[in-house]
Amino acid sequence: MSKLRYGFVGAGAIMRTHAERLVQRDDVELAAIADPAEGPVQASADKFKIPGRYAQFADMIAQENLDVVVVAVPNAYHAPAAIAALEAGCHVLCEKPPALNAAQAQQMADAAAANGKRLLYGLNMRFQGESDVARSYLDNGRLGEVYHASVMLFRRRGIPGLGSWFTTKAISGGGALIDIGVHILDLTHYLMGQPQPVAISALTHARFGNNPETYNYLSMWGTRVPGGPFDVDDLAAAFVRFANGASLVLQVSWAANTSEGGNIRLMGDKGGLELSPGSSVKLFTEDNGAIADISPLYPKPDAYAAEHAHLIDCIRDPAKALRTDGAQGVVLQKMLDAIYRSSAEGREVPV
Ligand SMILES: NC(=O)c1ccc[n+]([C@@H]2O[C@H](COP(=O)([O-])OP(=O)(O)OC[C@H]3O[C@@H](n4cnc5c(N)ncnc54)[C@H](O)[C@@H]3O)[C@@H](O)[C@H]2O)c1
Repeated sequence: MSKLRYGFVGAGAIMRTHAERLVQRDDVELAAIADPAEGPVQASADKFKIPGRYAQFADMIAQENLDVVVVAVPNAYHAPAAIAALEAGCHVLCEKPPALNAAQAQQMADAAAANGKRLLYGLNMRFQGESDVARSYLDNGRLGEVYHASVMLFRRRGIPGLGSWFTTKAISGGGALIDIGVHILDLTHYLMGQPQPVAISALTHARFGNNPETYNYLSMWGTRVPGGPFDVDDLAAAFVRFANGASLVLQVSWAANTSEGGNIRLMGDKGGLELSPGSSVKLFTEDNGAIADISPLYPKPDAYAAEHAHLIDCIRDPAKALRTDGAQGVVLQKMLDAIYRSSAEGREVPV
């Protein structure tokens, strides 16, 4: 079987996360990388021995005869890069969020369908061991009908790249919600069986990022740009109604005066689940006539490596269904759009 030729659009932090997993596989070849910033291109290409080095992704895609393109650029550039790659006949792993908005995500899904290529989103939480266990409980009927989910993902002081593209709405599409809320909202929706969202009421806040001179922090992914913009949310709260009658309450922060952590609670009419991403999962059930908890032991694979293995399996076997495909990306992005719209308009909005 021939090796799959990989190209990367973007040579930043998450590109390196992906490359670290891919270099461990013997069925892929890291062929090229494109980024207008020369320093990151040379550093990442040297580190992973990637021969093709480009400033423009269009040149890389035109010249490198790639099988797979990993889109690892700021959110505003996901759609143009992914669509160019799909139209050139490449499969795509595109980082989260799918795009800036649902219209772009729809164009990406359409490009994948029109060209018969795979489009997987980098929603790596779906590939964590807890997620596999939880989804199998759902699929095996242990939860019955899931009618409510309560989900939170709080960082106490963890705004990424304050002042950089991460906190510039025109490039990121938003703040805490679209950056990390996207992961936990997507995972919860997947674990509920992907009901159709119909209406959302939400409110977003900005209380820390817009005071950069007094902002103390515990962690910062990316690089701070002093004096740069902050016109996004650092906390979001939302209530989602689904067509099947289910409800979901979401709370997410980059920065808030509360303890850190992520937690998903699913409530079904036969059983319930509590999941801490990357940490634990517990089933709330009844057993032998008694109310009982089950705390399973399970494998904990590296989620990024599992994500790549899944995409490669799906490329090799066209009959296999992708776990996070273009159509699912559109639904997810519609929920994100509706959360921001509801907050801006101060009312519940249709999804
Ligand atoms: N799945 C995850 O856990 C996870 C974690 C972090 C980031 N991400 C996502 O990955 C993406 C990139 O984030 P990052 O942390 O690597 O950012 P980063 O700022 O470290 O790197 C982005 C790189 O993209 C380059 N770039 C900008 N425009 C480009 C273009 N048109 N063509 C090619 N390169 C271009 C920049 O020069 C930079 O080197 C974002 O969408 C982010 O949401 C996902």
